[in-house]
Amino acid sequence: MKILPNPQGFGACIEDVDLSGPLSDAEQTEIEYALCRHGVISFSAQDLSAPQLKAFSTRFGKLEVNVAGNYQEAGLPEVMILSNIVEDGKPIGLADAGQDWHTDMSYSKVIAYCNILYGIEIPHRDGEPLGCTEFSNMHAAYEDLPESLKTRLEGMTVLHDFSKFWEMMRSEKGSQRPPLTEAQRAAKPPVSHPIFLTHPITGKKVLYANPGYSVRINELPEAESARVLALLFEHQLKPKYRYRHRWAVGDVLMWDNMGTIHNAVADYRPDERRLIKRCQVMANRFFDEAAA
Ligand code: SIN
Repeated sequence: MKILPNPQGFGACIEDVDLSGPLSDAEQTEIEYALCRHGVISFSAQDLSAPQLKAFSTRFGKLEVNVAGNYQEAGLPEVMILSNIVEDGKPIGLADAGQDWHTDMSYSKVIAYCNILYGIEIPHRDGEPLGCTEFSNMHAAYEDLPESLKTRLEGMTVLHDFSKFWEMMRSEKGSQRPPLTEAQRAAKPPVSHPIFLTHPITGKKVLYANPGYSVRINELPEAESARVLALLFEHQLKPKYRYRHRWAVGDVLMWDNMGTIHNAVADYRPDERRLIKRCQVMANRFFDEAAA
């Protein structure tokens, strides 16, 4: 396979590999190292059934089944459907997934390792793809922090809350999501993770905080925590850390959730069809569940 890094130094595309068939261990390792080195990798012109998407994703770790139990491929709850398509008056997928900057599952005790998405229908207007997925590089964002701030925050932890993103979608983006019930809130209590996480594959530190779910630096007084988080959120979104994936039908897009944050750009209308199938690989392989 050929690994072609993106010219701006973040993300890569991989050619000459067919993800529908069996992969050798060597190919899997090569993909995994490319993923963590480049943060986001894409494979074009793939032709995958939902079971093949699941089989490929399972090679990288334990797959998450979304607790909501909605929008899953029939018989394959690990394969989730993201879509704005409505059939017989019913949405076939989750229409507003990830539409602001966040890290998937940072609100979970065991965090996410990577996501694997397969593009089936991609909206276009005037020949340009819509519904791009944007990424920002958290290895680079950590590296560039002033040494004094790195030293000051080292060893601190950030509280991540599932309800922050959910409520933001309802109050700021007009999402039709219902309010979370007490039972749903109780099922997802806020959790803490190190503000600087040592990436289990690159061995380097990443900035592990994100605007979507991070609510508090536990070790700082409230006002100071809010000030530092605002500064980190601004820093981590500088254009120099970013890459925007322009989808084509048949793309498989895979990203490292520890080394990146991402945003699904909602620039298409309800009649401009988007259909993506998605698997979420958890990081159980790297972090002991009990210790987490
Ligand atoms: C997500 O955050 O997983 C959704 C990404 C996308 O639909 O582009």
